[in-house]
Amino acid sequence: MVIAIDGPAGAGKSTVARAVAQRLGFTYLDTGAMYRCVGLAASSDPDSPAGEVAARVNIVLGDRVLLDGRDVTEAIRTAEASEGASRVASDPAVRAALVAKQQAIVAGGDWVAEGRDIATVVAPDAAVKVFLTADPEERARRRAADLGQLVEEVLKAQHERDVRDQTADRSTLEAPKDSIPVDTTGLTLDEVIEQVVTLAVEAKEIQ
Ligand code: DC
Repeated sequence: MVIAIDGPAGAGKSTVARAVAQRLGFTYLDTGAMYRCVGLAASSDPDSPAGEVAARVNIVLGDRVLLDGRDVTEAIRTAEASEGASRVASDPAVRAALVAKQQAIVAGGDWVAEGRDIATVVAPDAAVKVFLTADPEERARRRAADLGQLVEEVLKAQHERDVRDQTADRSTLEAPKDSIPVDTTGLTLDEVIEQVVTLAVEAKEIQ
Protein backbone atom coordinates (compact mmCIF):
# COMPACT_ATOMS: atom_id res chain seq x y z
CA MET A 1 0.00 0.00 0.00
CA VAL A 2 1.26 3.47 -0.89
CA ILE A 3 0.37 6.75 0.75
CA ALA A 4 1.40 9.57 -1.56
CA ILE A 5 2.31 12.92 -0.08
CA ASP A 6 2.99 15.65 -2.62
CA GLY A 7 3.24 19.41 -2.39
CA PRO A 8 5.55 22.38 -2.81
CA ALA A 9 8.82 23.04 -0.98
CA GLY A 10 8.36 23.91 2.68
CA ALA A 11 4.82 22.58 3.05
CA GLY A 12 6.06 20.17 5.74
CA LYS A 13 5.99 17.03 3.61
CA SER A 14 9.14 15.41 5.02
CA THR A 15 8.24 15.85 8.66
CA VAL A 16 4.64 14.76 8.10
CA ALA A 17 5.54 11.80 5.86
CA ARG A 18 8.17 10.53 8.30
CA ALA A 19 5.81 10.81 11.27
CA VAL A 20 2.90 9.17 9.44
CA ALA A 21 5.15 6.28 8.34
CA GLN A 22 6.27 5.77 11.93
CA ARG A 23 2.69 5.84 13.25
CA LEU A 24 1.50 3.27 10.70
CA GLY A 25 4.60 1.06 10.64
CA PHE A 26 5.16 1.91 6.97
CA THR A 27 8.52 2.74 5.36
CA TYR A 28 9.21 6.34 4.43
CA LEU A 29 10.43 7.14 0.90
CA ASP A 30 11.96 10.59 0.46
CA THR A 31 12.09 11.00 -3.33
CA GLY A 32 13.45 14.55 -3.00
CA ALA A 33 16.57 13.05 -1.40
CA MET A 34 17.06 11.04 -4.60
CA TYR A 35 16.94 14.20 -6.75
CA ARG A 36 19.32 15.82 -4.28
CA CYS A 37 21.76 12.90 -4.63
CA VAL A 38 21.65 13.11 -8.42
CA GLY A 39 22.24 16.88 -8.25
CA LEU A 40 25.32 16.25 -6.14
CA ALA A 41 26.60 13.43 -8.34
CA ALA A 42 25.99 15.46 -11.52
CA SER A 43 27.90 18.46 -10.15
CA SER A 44 30.99 16.31 -9.58
CA ASP A 45 30.66 14.72 -13.04
CA PRO A 46 29.79 17.65 -15.34
CA ASP A 47 30.91 15.78 -18.49
CA SER A 48 28.23 13.09 -18.21
CA PRO A 49 24.59 13.84 -19.07
CA ALA A 50 22.59 14.09 -15.82
CA GLY A 51 20.19 11.38 -17.04
CA GLU A 52 23.09 8.94 -17.31
CA VAL A 53 24.30 9.91 -13.86
CA ALA A 54 20.79 9.35 -12.46
CA ALA A 55 20.56 5.88 -14.01
CA ARG A 56 24.04 4.91 -12.84
CA VAL A 57 24.20 6.08 -9.22
CA ASN A 58 23.47 3.83 -6.28
CA ILE A 59 21.31 5.61 -3.70
CA VAL A 60 20.57 4.08 -0.31
CA LEU A 61 17.94 5.88 1.79
CA GLY A 62 17.51 5.42 5.51
CA ASP A 63 18.68 7.13 8.68
CA ARG A 64 21.74 8.04 6.63
CA VAL A 65 21.70 8.71 2.88
CA LEU A 66 24.42 6.92 0.93
CA LEU A 67 25.43 7.94 -2.58
CA ASP A 68 27.65 5.31 -4.17
CA GLY A 69 28.64 4.30 -0.65
CA ARG A 70 29.46 7.85 0.51
CA ASP A 71 27.46 9.34 3.39
CA VAL A 72 25.83 12.48 1.94
CA THR A 73 23.14 12.94 4.61
CA GLU A 74 24.24 16.49 5.40
CA ALA A 75 25.74 17.36 2.00
CA ILE A 76 22.37 17.01 0.22
CA ARG A 77 20.68 19.53 2.53
CA THR A 78 22.74 22.64 1.74
CA ALA A 79 21.26 25.56 -0.23
CA GLU A 80 23.53 24.64 -3.18
CA ALA A 81 22.28 21.06 -3.10
CA SER A 82 18.67 22.35 -3.17
CA GLU A 83 19.51 24.37 -6.28
CA GLY A 84 21.30 21.43 -7.89
CA ALA A 85 18.38 19.11 -7.16
CA SER A 86 15.85 21.53 -8.59
CA ARG A 87 17.97 21.86 -11.74
CA VAL A 88 18.41 18.14 -12.43
CA ALA A 89 14.75 17.55 -11.56
CA SER A 90 13.75 19.56 -14.64
CA ASP A 91 15.64 17.09 -16.89
CA PRO A 92 13.17 14.49 -18.27
CA ALA A 93 15.93 11.85 -18.52
CA VAL A 94 16.70 12.28 -14.81
CA ARG A 95 13.01 12.04 -13.95
CA ALA A 96 12.56 8.88 -16.03
CA ALA A 97 15.55 7.21 -14.33
CA LEU A 98 14.46 8.14 -10.81
CA VAL A 99 10.77 7.34 -11.35
CA ALA A 100 11.82 3.83 -12.49
CA LYS A 101 13.88 3.38 -9.32
CA GLN A 102 11.04 4.72 -7.15
CA GLN A 103 8.45 2.45 -8.77
CA ALA A 104 10.69 -0.56 -8.15
CA ILE A 105 11.04 0.46 -4.50
CA VAL A 106 7.30 0.89 -3.77
CA ALA A 107 6.28 -2.22 -5.73
CA GLY A 108 6.36 -4.28 -2.54
CA GLY A 109 5.44 -3.44 1.05
CA ASP A 110 3.80 -0.45 2.68
CA TRP A 111 5.14 3.00 1.91
CA VAL A 112 4.64 6.64 2.69
CA ALA A 113 6.21 8.21 -0.39
CA GLU A 114 6.83 11.92 -0.45
CA GLY A 115 7.65 14.16 -3.40
CA ARG A 116 6.09 16.16 -6.21
CA ASP A 117 4.80 13.55 -8.64
CA ILE A 118 4.00 10.57 -6.43
CA ALA A 119 0.23 10.66 -6.96
CA THR A 120 0.48 11.54 -10.63
CA VAL A 121 3.46 9.55 -11.93
CA VAL A 122 5.26 7.32 -9.42
CA ALA A 123 2.23 5.68 -7.80
CA PRO A 124 -0.98 6.69 -9.61
CA ASP A 125 -2.74 3.80 -7.84
CA ALA A 126 -1.76 5.01 -4.37
CA ALA A 127 -4.41 4.21 -1.74
CA VAL A 128 -4.25 7.74 -0.33
CA LYS A 129 -3.13 10.86 -2.16
CA VAL A 130 -2.49 13.87 0.01
CA PHE A 131 -1.45 17.26 -1.32
CA LEU A 132 0.11 19.35 1.44
CA THR A 133 0.17 23.11 1.02
CA ALA A 134 0.76 26.21 3.09
CA ASP A 135 0.93 29.94 2.34
CA PRO A 136 4.23 30.92 0.66
CA GLU A 137 5.14 33.09 3.67
CA GLU A 138 4.47 30.27 6.11
CA ARG A 139 6.50 27.83 4.01
CA ALA A 140 9.40 30.29 3.91
CA ARG A 141 9.17 30.92 7.66
CA ARG A 142 9.38 27.18 8.39
CA ARG A 143 12.34 26.64 6.07
CA ALA A 144 14.14 29.71 7.39
CA ALA A 145 13.82 28.35 10.91
CA ASP A 146 15.16 24.96 9.75
CA LEU A 147 18.07 26.42 7.81
CA GLY A 148 18.89 29.32 10.14
CA GLN A 149 18.47 31.83 7.29
CA LEU A 150 16.53 35.06 6.78
CA VAL A 151 12.87 34.66 5.79
CA GLU A 152 13.24 37.18 2.94
CA GLU A 153 16.15 35.22 1.43
CA VAL A 154 14.32 31.92 1.72
CA LEU A 155 11.16 33.44 0.24
CA LYS A 156 13.08 34.65 -2.83
CA ALA A 157 14.87 31.31 -3.40
CA GLN A 158 11.63 29.44 -2.71
CA HIS A 159 9.77 31.47 -5.33
CA GLU A 160 12.46 30.68 -7.93
CA ARG A 161 12.28 26.98 -7.07
CA ASP A 162 8.46 27.02 -7.12
CA VAL A 163 8.52 28.48 -10.62
CA ARG A 164 11.11 25.94 -11.81
CA ASP A 165 9.38 23.03 -10.08
CA GLN A 166 6.14 24.13 -11.67
CA THR A 167 7.52 23.85 -15.19
CA ALA A 168 8.97 20.76 -16.89
CA ASP A 169 5.67 18.88 -16.87
CA ARG A 170 5.38 19.03 -13.13
CA SER A 171 2.46 20.76 -11.56
CA THR A 172 3.57 21.16 -7.99
CA LEU A 173 1.65 24.13 -6.72
CA GLU A 174 -1.83 22.79 -7.32
CA ALA A 175 -3.34 19.57 -6.07
CA PRO A 176 -4.01 16.93 -8.75
CA LYS A 177 -7.75 16.31 -9.20
CA ASP A 178 -7.84 13.03 -7.28
CA SER A 179 -5.69 14.25 -4.36
CA ILE A 180 -6.96 15.45 -1.01
CA PRO A 181 -5.63 18.96 -0.38
CA VAL A 182 -4.50 19.60 3.19
CA ASP A 183 -3.67 23.25 3.89
CA THR A 184 -1.27 23.22 6.81
CA THR A 185 -1.25 27.00 7.32
CA GLY A 186 -2.08 27.62 10.95
CA LEU A 187 -2.25 23.92 11.82
CA THR A 188 0.17 22.31 14.25
CA LEU A 189 2.32 19.44 13.08
CA ASP A 190 0.33 17.02 15.23
CA GLU A 191 -2.94 18.17 13.68
CA VAL A 192 -1.61 17.58 10.18
CA ILE A 193 -0.20 14.15 11.08
CA GLU A 194 -3.54 13.20 12.67
CA GLN A 195 -5.45 14.19 9.51
CA VAL A 196 -3.21 12.13 7.24
CA VAL A 197 -3.19 9.11 9.57
CA THR A 198 -7.00 9.21 9.67
CA LEU A 199 -7.16 9.23 5.86
CA ALA A 200 -4.73 6.31 5.69
CA VAL A 201 -6.60 4.25 8.29
CA GLU A 202 -9.89 4.82 6.43
CA ALA A 203 -8.25 3.72 3.16
CA LYS A 204 -6.81 0.63 4.80
CA GLU A 205 -10.23 -0.38 6.11
CA ILE A 206 -11.71 -0.09 2.61
CA GLN A 207 -8.93 -2.17 1.03
O1 DC B 1 11.47 17.85 -1.53
P1 DC B 1 12.90 18.34 -1.74
O2 DC B 1 13.09 19.81 -1.43
O3 DC B 1 13.91 17.51 -1.03
O4 DC B 1 13.15 18.16 -3.32
C1 DC B 1 14.36 18.54 -3.94
C2 DC B 1 14.09 18.94 -5.38
O5 DC B 1 13.70 17.80 -6.15
C3 DC B 1 13.01 20.00 -5.57
O6 DC B 1 13.49 21.01 -6.46
C4 DC B 1 11.86 19.29 -6.21
C5 DC B 1 12.47 18.06 -6.82
N1 DC B 1 11.62 16.88 -6.72
C6 DC B 1 10.91 16.49 -7.84
O7 DC B 1 10.96 17.16 -8.86
N2 DC B 1 10.14 15.37 -7.78
C7 DC B 1 10.06 14.64 -6.65
N3 DC B 1 9.32 13.53 -6.62
C8 DC B 1 10.78 15.05 -5.50
C9 DC B 1 11.54 16.19 -5.56
